[in-house]
Amino acid sequence: MAALFRIWMFKVLFFGLIDPSQASLRPRVSFPQGSSERLLSIYSSSNVKNTTTLLLSTDADTLFVGAQDALLSLDVSQPDSITLKDELEWKASRGNLLTCKMASKKDCGNFISILQFFNSTHLYACGTNAYGPQGIIIPASSLNASRDTKNAKNCCPYSSTQRNTAIIVDEELYTATKVGFFGNKKVISRCHSRATRNNLELENVPKLLQDPVFISSTHVASEGKILLFFTETGDLTGDYLVNSFIVSRVAQVCTDDNGGSLTLQKRWTSFAKAQLVCQQGEDLQFNKLEDIVKLSPPDNESSDSTLFYGVFTSQWSVSSGQSAVCAFSLAEIKAAFSGDYKTFDLEGNHWSRQPNADKKLGKCGLFNDTDRVLNIVKKSFLTEKAVRPVENKLLLSSTKERYSRIAVQRTQAANGQSYTILYLLTESGFLHKVVLLAKGSHIIEEIPIFKQSQTVKNILLSKSKALLRVSSECLCPTAQIIQTVQNVC
Ligand SMILES: *[C@@H]1O[C@H](CO)[C@@H](O)[C@H](O)[C@H]1NC(C)=O
Ligand SMILES: *[C@@H]1O[C@H](CO)[C@@H](O)[C@H](O)[C@H]1NC(C)=O
Ligand SMILES: *[C@@H]1O[C@H](CO)[C@@H](O)[C@H](O)[C@H]1NC(C)=O
Repeated sequence: MAALFRIWMFKVLFFGLIDPSQASLRPRVSFPQGSSERLLSIYSSSNVKNTTTLLLSTDADTLFVGAQDALLSLDVSQPDSITLKDELEWKASRGNLLTCKMASKKDCGNFISILQFFNSTHLYACGTNAYGPQGIIIPASSLNASRDTKNAKNCCPYSSTQRNTAIIVDEELYTATKVGFFGNKKVISRCHSRATRNNLELENVPKLLQDPVFISSTHVASEGKILLFFTETGDLTGDYLVNSFIVSRVAQVCTDDNGGSLTLQKRWTSFAKAQLVCQQGEDLQFNKLEDIVKLSPPDNESSDSTLFYGVFTSQWSVSSGQSAVCAFSLAEIKAAFSGDYKTFDLEGNHWSRQPNADKKLGKCGLFNDTDRVLNIVKKSFLTEKAVRPVENKLLLSSTKERYSRIAVQRTQAANGQSYTILYLLTESGFLHKVVLLAKGSHIIEEIPIFKQSQTVKNILLSKSKALLRVSSECLCPTAQIIQTVQNVC
């Protein structure tokens, strides 16, 4: 891999470095569709439709695919062929189908909306089950073995069309999604909690979540926290004069949370949110987060230097660029949550400052605290400080491309220096490989992935296999495609 990387580095240097101040960066190498140098492996099957979720085994040999009415496992251990290992047919229940169709819903099926490892041997999957979501726990090695069924009404999406995020930590499920037949309830919840622990959800207070779209979530073990990323509608009470201003957010909940004993009973006592700002200087903000991924630091560095790479688009893309990439450090996110807060005064209809003098707000372990403290916690969920990108600048912006998905890896070149590589998917179906150098970002490759543009739901990186996996969320009746790009990593 290092050798290959050196060749790319050579190409970059050979063709001359691009001026980093340039807003639109041209790829140095552009491969044609089906190029033998970047072969695409494709799996298609006429009885699989509407693929929704992907999960790669830890050894990167098996790819689990959630689809409509089906869950598959594919053997991806060989670079040039993908074969079916196992398949579970999982349909919506008859009763639900009937009710769903009578309500004229368009997606009356069982769309797999959540697919995660439950533990080292079992998978957890959630299906929409024609608007009556259901969870199952099944052995990863044998999808048709007897399954454990879980009621998932307050944890899993009802519809196939909305974005959601979920993560399992210690066999407990943390989700952020809209629930209900009309999708009108927004939840951030912990479900299937261990026997001694409560299931948790958000307290219903004004301004907690405003029309959120959930993007992703990650477990930060060093902090005992789950971080959630989403966008929502902003407030007129801020500095903004626009009516429907979109803001991007990072939110936290603590895994040790168990809800208060009186105040905030069975509710999070650790939920807090901060604004995530992708902006350079006084330029217009790239305010809409599209996707975000975590890059853990090298072993010898503190977890505080964990970075989160996000792709953003702008609500005002006419005047600014189409999209940008920003990196945020865990240290900055922690600083926002341990700082002061704002509380919303319903009567006065305004936000006011809630100082965090004793530094309790934003901390884990508050569920054990007094009612007096929990009453302050309850209304203090928005941080005063926003999270700004590393060095207060964009890593990349493009006036031409709208990036929709991102993957990241750190790689070492032959000279021992390590580089960060981003893989960005454009809405028009191209993959851009980008190297981040001290002097700026450079798109070193462009590879066409899809013939027609389509919404890409997922990209997965498999470093060990030097493969990149992309699944498309084409809601189409024909075969669904899973693509593997060879030699790109
Ligand atoms: C994983 O969870 C399943 C279902 O609860 C259980 O049967 C299995 O023993 C667990 N596996 C491990 C390795 O803990
Ligand atoms: C919560 O309080 C109880 C009793 O007051 C104590 O035993 C327990 O260790 C506390 N738990 C945490 C996580 O602080
Ligand atoms: C899923 O696939 C079917 C084809 O089998 C298609 O008609 C439908 O529109 C797709 N999407 C949804 C949301 O059902």
